[in-house]
Amino acid sequence: MNRRRFLRDSGATALGAALLPAYTVSSAAPVLTRPIPSSGERIPAVGLGTWQTFDVGTDRALREQRGETLRAFVDAGGTVVDSSPMYGSSERVVGDLVQAEGLRDRLWLATKVWTSGETAGVRQMTESMALLRTPRLELMQVHNLLDWRTHLKTLRGWKEEGRVRYIGVTHYLASAHDQVERIVREERLDFVQLNLSLDEPEAASRVLDTCAERGVAFIANRPFGGGGSFARARGKALPTWAADYDVQSWAQFMLKWILSHEAVTCAIPGTSRAAHAVDNVGGATGRLPDARARDRMAAAWRAL
Ligand SMILES: NC(=O)c1ccc[n+]([C@@H]2O[C@H](COP(=O)([O-])OP(=O)(O)OC[C@H]3O[C@@H](n4cnc5c(N)ncnc54)[C@H](OP(=O)(O)O)[C@@H]3O)[C@@H](O)[C@H]2O)c1
Repeated sequence: MNRRRFLRDSGATALGAALLPAYTVSSAAPVLTRPIPSSGERIPAVGLGTWQTFDVGTDRALREQRGETLRAFVDAGGTVVDSSPMYGSSERVVGDLVQAEGLRDRLWLATKVWTSGETAGVRQMTESMALLRTPRLELMQVHNLLDWRTHLKTLRGWKEEGRVRYIGVTHYLASAHDQVERIVREERLDFVQLNLSLDEPEAASRVLDTCAERGVAFIANRPFGGGGSFARARGKALPTWAADYDVQSWAQFMLKWILSHEAVTCAIPGTSRAAHAVDNVGGATGRLPDARARDRMAAAWRAL
């Protein structure tokens, strides 16, 4: 990580820069990991989403900057990176950066299949693995449930062959939660990925319990409501009691609310910035709120 660039990204002033350590937000505390119920393998509870944020095409300066973001994320203790063929050039950009930075062994890579039909699905998933420059992927998910029966059938075979280690389905709308919950009950899945945040809390009241009951890992996407949640918090001070949970930023406040649900395995905030990646991984360090504190956080959030 280039310290000067990191400080520039993080908005540190020249005077402040002289006083700051390289990663000001990450703490020395270990990063919280959670077990994947189907295997017991533990993964860090905060990952990195790549929708829009890593869709930078061939622009050299932007690619270099995203490389710094990825390196900062890994150095802070993150491993889980989520992508999709739906995210423009993101898979290619991540794959190129992972190779250039020699990070494959330190990452837990997830992507998705987003097409209809068995042949098209196989072609797309093969292409994704080529773009991500890996012969074996940690997690392949059916994006937005598109032709999910067909792809899950293919993926069961791929899992047996060892091409993917885990399989799952995703969506990003509360209107799809009922259907996802039914699939969790009827199918054998390793992972579900859904929207969960202080602004989109619906999954907490139902799908999470079903996942816990069925031994399915839960990834929370859109943890900041797609970024819109920051508008609510802008210019507002954190409650003083947030320090009891080692919360140092609104991003960590939102992530810790999500992680206070024990059935959440991992939250995957998307970011283009190194400083934000470090801030976000910091949301998986220190003390976590319990159920009572979680309700207090939600009430404080609504009152903003
Ligand atoms: N159907 C699906 O499967 C599905 C749907 C939606 C999302 N996803 C996955 O979930 C990931 C997360 O969702 P999302 O990217 O839509 O939304 P999000 O993570 O809720 O919000 C991302 C936004 O928050 C900002 N941000 C991130 N960290 C920040 C911080 N510490 N401080 C201030 N701002 C911060 C980012 O801007 P900066 O770049 O400036 O940091 C970005 O604009 C996606 O990237 C994708 O991998 C999957």
